Amino acid sequence: MLEIRDLSFFYGKIQALNHLSLELRDGEIHAVIGANGAGKTTMMNCIAGQLVPQSGEILLDGEKLPNAPHMVVSRGVVLVPEGRQIFHNLTVEENLLMGGYTIKDRSPGVERSYEMFPRLKERRRQRAGTLSGGEQQMLAIARGLMSDPKIILFDEPSLGLAPLIVNDVMSNIKKINESGVTVMLVEQNARKALAIATRASVIEQGRVVKSGLAAEIAADESVISNYLGKAKRKD
Ligand SMILES: Nc1ncnc2c1ncn2[C@@H]1O[C@H](COP(=O)(O)OP(=O)(O)O)[C@@H](O)[C@H]1O
Ligand SMILES: [Mg+2]
Repeated sequence: MLEIRDLSFFYGKIQALNHLSLELRDGEIHAVIGANGAGKTTMMNCIAGQLVPQSGEILLDGEKLPNAPHMVVSRGVVLVPEGRQIFHNLTVEENLLMGGYTIKDRSPGVERSYEMFPRLKERRRQRAGTLSGGEQQMLAIARGLMSDPKIILFDEPSLGLAPLIVNDVMSNIKKINESGVTVMLVEQNARKALAIATRASVIEQGRVVKSGLAAEIAADESVISNYLGKAKRKD
């Protein structure tokens, strides 16, 4: 289990996290929803060891997670970052290899990626910058899986993708979870995230204001009016 306790983070004078606490339980998909600027990415980057919070702590199975990205990866926690952040000038395969930088033999990971995403295999020697948005997201996910993580943190994986592609991404996330990986899923597309989640939390102004079963959160009046407004839309 990953426990985020009382996390506060400031960018200069701007407080992005305000005593944020959240529990990611083993085996679940935990959807995290919240408006733009609520602090979701800041929280994810703190977990991944890319930002050091001014106060609070993050525990993995009771032990403090170090504030260093490669050590967090070694503990089995991987971030698939907002905006994908793949290397456009490297090939698909080179990007995958970068994702496995903490492990010795990277070929099994590459093979697993190609099994899950045959499209990436077809394009293995192509520069990543020439892939479509959906393919780039596949690559970002496959790169995250290279180190065989216990926990994956997805930051806005559906951002900028066409609705049909978003469905693919969501079903891939579900599959990854079913293969035994615990998932934290930050999404502005609250409806899609809640549809595949076990539990969910709502973040407002840097703190968790609601947590519960995804179905309960999806039925909550204030969640419906604030985050699920487009209820009649069929996507
Ligand atoms: N690099 C930065 N420098 C200054 N302020 C930032 C920076 N990144 C984010 N912020 C601010 O921190 C708050 C939380 O941002 P962020 O974590 O990106 O939210 P979210 O991912 O929920 O949209 C916002 O007020 C945002 O403007
Ligand atoms: Mg964000």
